[in-house]
Amino acid sequence: MSSTPAWASLQQHRDLLGIPSLSQLFLDDPHRFDKFHLQLENLFLDYSKNWITSDTLRLLADLLNQADVPTQLENMFRGEHINSTENRAVLHVALRNLSKTPILVDGSDVMPQVFDVLARMKSFSSSVRDGSWTGYTGQSITDIVNIGIGGSDLGPSMVCLALRSFGHPRLSMHFVSNIDGHHIDSVLQKIDPARSLFIVASKTFTTQETLTNAQTAKNWLLSHTNDPSAVSKHFVALSTNTEAVSSFGILTENMFPFWDWVGGRYSLWSAIGLSIMLYIGSDSFEQLLSGAHYVDQHLLANIRTNPLSCPSVVLGLLGIWYNNFYDAQTHALLPYHQDLSRFAAYFQQGDMESNGKSVDRQGNKVNIQTGPIIWGEPGTNSQHSFFQLLHQGTKLIPADFIAFARASHNLPMHQDILISNYLAQTEALAFGKPLEAVRKELQQQGLNQESISALAPHKVFEGNHPTNSILIDSLTPYSLGSLIAIYEHKIFVQGIVWNINSFDQWGVELGKQLAKAILQELSTPETAQKHDSSTNGLINIYKKLRK
Ligand code: F6P
Repeated sequence: MSSTPAWASLQQHRDLLGIPSLSQLFLDDPHRFDKFHLQLENLFLDYSKNWITSDTLRLLADLLNQADVPTQLENMFRGEHINSTENRAVLHVALRNLSKTPILVDGSDVMPQVFDVLARMKSFSSSVRDGSWTGYTGQSITDIVNIGIGGSDLGPSMVCLALRSFGHPRLSMHFVSNIDGHHIDSVLQKIDPARSLFIVASKTFTTQETLTNAQTAKNWLLSHTNDPSAVSKHFVALSTNTEAVSSFGILTENMFPFWDWVGGRYSLWSAIGLSIMLYIGSDSFEQLLSGAHYVDQHLLANIRTNPLSCPSVVLGLLGIWYNNFYDAQTHALLPYHQDLSRFAAYFQQGDMESNGKSVDRQGNKVNIQTGPIIWGEPGTNSQHSFFQLLHQGTKLIPADFIAFARASHNLPMHQDILISNYLAQTEALAFGKPLEAVRKELQQQGLNQESISALAPHKVFEGNHPTNSILIDSLTPYSLGSLIAIYEHKIFVQGIVWNINSFDQWGVELGKQLAKAILQELSTPETAQKHDSSTNGLINIYKKLRK
């Protein structure tokens, strides 16, 4: 993409623009907010506090077209095999295609099977929710344990926490992902086997962590009942691999399938979302799908004619602007809602597993920067941990601030304080506090000239830190569905512009292979010698220490 005329024009534009002053940009144009914000239903995106002018946006939109993002997007929605290295379609959009318009994969419409599984999920979840699904002692279920990792864990756990206020009062949700036995142990200690339902969530049903945790859970259940038939009342599976599910001992009727065209990190909309549906109910789950579907349709309808009306496009292009033209290495996601405390972790996988690539779609080494490091924590906690570096550090860190106007609690004092912080931080980051203002403040506090000169430089805020502000009416299944879909499509837009395949993840394979080989060595008494001296040394120390 760096060879396109649009890229060259952007580079020229960036050289001319340098690092513009946000203060100056706002002084020059009192209507800057009007120009650089957009609304999608009840979601507002203010991107005026960025190092951009109207020319920047125009050139970024040219890049979008020259990278052929519209065609690639349409190809995705049409079910073409855009995941070329795995020869698969990429159709998480079909999972939320509530309008049921046919989507063909290899000539056959996938919508009937999508709705068939959705109907089975609904009937199962309503039986658990209304108490008619019972465990081996005839009691209703109180605890749901989702066993999965990566995309089979992060989406459901992030959404269940985010939609806590929509959750069923009898149900407690638990998520076990780590192979570290402390994880499952801490959950098993809290729950009653007679009232627990285990969901084994794994697209491939070969993932070491998930299968080991599931086996441990099964052994634990059987250690309490001694009745193998209890397994069918307490275990269900979510997978694309029927054979592996059966050989694990879960009945096919207790399996909710999905398909190879659902990428792991895009799978919360599929059967992988069963824990979400169990917790918030099928109506709310449909609202989640519906919010995402709206964003999908809006993007598809506007990508050619009015792409800058789409938040995913604007966020994607701004990300490229900083990543490729200002060398920004990271991007912070800062939700001002405690229930979104796993949002950044979710999009760490979503973004970094998708766009953490250094080979392009043709197999050539890329010559530009690709995906940024994604990180973040909710406000206001983040303000009291790493915001010092955002305000006064030396790094460029573009950040998205996300907040909701209405809270689901009834503690009015808290909400305005929260939002005042959300607003104040982007103002402070953009406009800072200059030396003269600091000196004046210190004078007013009665400090002498010497102390003022010594202290003032430390209290200066240079400002000029770019941010986006997303403000949504309230955190609901619908608005969360929209928000997630916006970030998913942002990743898509960037991946196409960088000409990488955002839908494979070969980079996770090598570690898995090596771990298998090392696991075997850990079971022998011999001194390790096959590896480099560091790995050999560590294996041998571990073997001594564990005795
Ligand atoms: O290791 C990475 C990965 O393949 C992710 O892409 C995926 O979400 C996760 O593992 C879990 O895979 P599975 O659902 O097949 O167990």
